[in-house]
Order: sequence, then structure tokens, then C-alpha cells
Amino acid sequence: MTKLSKLAKLAPAFGPSNPKPRFLSLFLSMSKMAYTSTHNGFYGLMLFGIVLSTMVGSSVGSFYQDFDLTWGDNRAKIFNGGQLLSLSLDKVSGSGFQSKKEYLFGRIDMQLKLVAGNSAGTVTAYYLSSQGPTHDEIDFEFLGNLSGDPYILHTNIFTQGKGNREQQFYLWFDPTRNFHTYSIIWKPQHIIFLVDNIPIRVFKNAESLGVPFPKNQPMRIYSSLWSADDWATRGGLVKTDWSKAPFTAYYRNFKATQLSSSKSSITNSGAEWEANELDAYGRRRLRWVQKYFMIYNYCNDLKRFPQGLPAECRR
Ligand SMILES: *[C@@H]1O[C@H](CO)[C@@H](O)[C@H](O)[C@H]1NC(C)=O
Repeated sequence: MTKLSKLAKLAPAFGPSNPKPRFLSLFLSMSKMAYTSTHNGFYGLMLFGIVLSTMVGSSVGSFYQDFDLTWGDNRAKIFNGGQLLSLSLDKVSGSGFQSKKEYLFGRIDMQLKLVAGNSAGTVTAYYLSSQGPTHDEIDFEFLGNLSGDPYILHTNIFTQGKGNREQQFYLWFDPTRNFHTYSIIWKPQHIIFLVDNIPIRVFKNAESLGVPFPKNQPMRIYSSLWSADDWATRGGLVKTDWSKAPFTAYYRNFKATQLSSSKSSITNSGAEWEANELDAYGRRRLRWVQKYFMIYNYCNDLKRFPQGLPAECRR
């Protein structure tokens, strides 16, 4: 069975293609239940409120609304009424999409399910980037592997057109079996990469040490699936097996939360955004990931920087 037909069978789990009738009938049956089981109008009303707020809370955008399919012709697809997106790669071309909007600070969440089976040589890039020669960029790149061998999650940060800030990780799960959430929290004080809400990397604003920080150029969200078998898997030793094409990755549950940079807000969420550091739990999780899953850190690569490690590594 192809992956697509498997997914098609699972489709109800991703939400109906037209959510309104389902919500409506859900509401009707739930409120009927409430009325008949409690005979109490008050509970019915309460339930109505809960269902209503769920409806409002879950009315997140759709891929149609938030993204443009930018290359690869029909290899990039949006389906399930805008709730699911897929990119695929074959011998002729990869594919990609980008956000319609630009973002300046915020929290960006996306769920990805990566190319399954033999994905060696494939790269699924998911990143934020501004434009031009002095652009800023915040990267997740997923480097495929032979069936059963681990993906590498490669991260990087460009400021003013300059990158060379790689950290690489293995994941503590198989990223091809289920959807997992990959997030970026981008604030004036720091950038945090998260996987299933576990912080894996923090890049602090080190402008005081002369290190530029992305804070003036709005970024778009991009993703693409392509083949880079000259370096992706075991440093290029394992090539893409085109007899396994097309390779497909899936996306769902995109969410962008803008945050105001004004320090005056003292609402709960405002306070949360202003907090400079991770809390104790977050710091513990970060240490756990860095201890057991980090396989490369530019800040430890003395051979690469014989003149001395980059300034942000020396603090
Ligand atoms: C692929 O698997 C090999 C063998 O386990 C491992 O050394 C490598 O780091 C894995 N990932 C990539 C992307 O090469």
C-alpha cells in the first residue's frame, strides 16, 4: 500500500475536509446528550459554551490560507480541506512551499512526518529566512537514512548572511512513524528550537559580544524536500535509491503566535514571553537532549576554529 493511500484511510484523524457540519452535529448531539441526561438547562448551556470555545480555538488557518506551493509542480499538494500538506521528491525534481506572511519574532509550530523507509540522500528542510545577501535564517534540516538507521536533525542559525553555527542531533523517536511538533521561539533575547515542546537548542542574543542577532529582518517560513546525496547521509557515502521514489513528507497543524516586543504587557502570556530563560524543567530537558542526542556542536569543534571559537561559544 502506498503511503498516500494509507494516509487517505487515516484521513478522519486529520479532521474532516469540511469541518463545519461535523462540529455542528457534534454540538447538536452533545447538547442533546446533556439535556437528556441531566434534564438541566444550565449544564446544557455550559456545554454549549465549551463546545463553542473549542470551535473558536481550533479554527486555526489552513495551508491554503497561510502558504504558497512554490516549486515542484504537483509534487507539492494541499489536501484534507487545507489541513494536510505533502511534499515529494522524485528523480526529476523536489518540491517546496513558503508562507504568505512574514514574521518578526513569535512562536512557530508545525507538525512533520518525514520520508519513511529508505530516505537516504534526501533532505527535508524546514526553516525561517529573510531575503538578500545579509539575510537571517533559522534552520531545521532533516537528513534521511537507510531504513532503520537514524535521521539526523541538523540545525543552524544565520545572522547577517553568516551561518556556520551547526548543531546536530539524533531524535529519541522514529520521525517517520508519526507526526511530531517542531517549533521555533524567536524573541529579541533568544531563539529556542523545540521538538515536541522539548528545547533542544538555545541561541542567546550575544550582541554585547559583537555577535549579530536576527531582530530587524522579518522572515518567511519555507520548507523543501530535495536530494543532497553528495553529503546528507553518512557524509555522502549512501546515495539516494531512486527506485524508491517518490519520497514524501507530510505537514499539519501549523500555528504561528505573534508576540509583541513591548515590555509593558503584564498579561500571563506577556509575562511568559518576557521570561528570559527556560524554566528549571526546560533547562533539564535541554541538558538531557544535549547529553544523549547531540552528535555535533560547532562550539566544541576546536579543529574547525583554530583561531578560537566563535564569540557566542565562549561565554
Ligand atoms: C545514518 O545511519 C548511520 C549508521 O547508523 C549513522 O552513522 C548516521 O549518523 C545516520 N544518519 C545520517 C543522516 O547519516
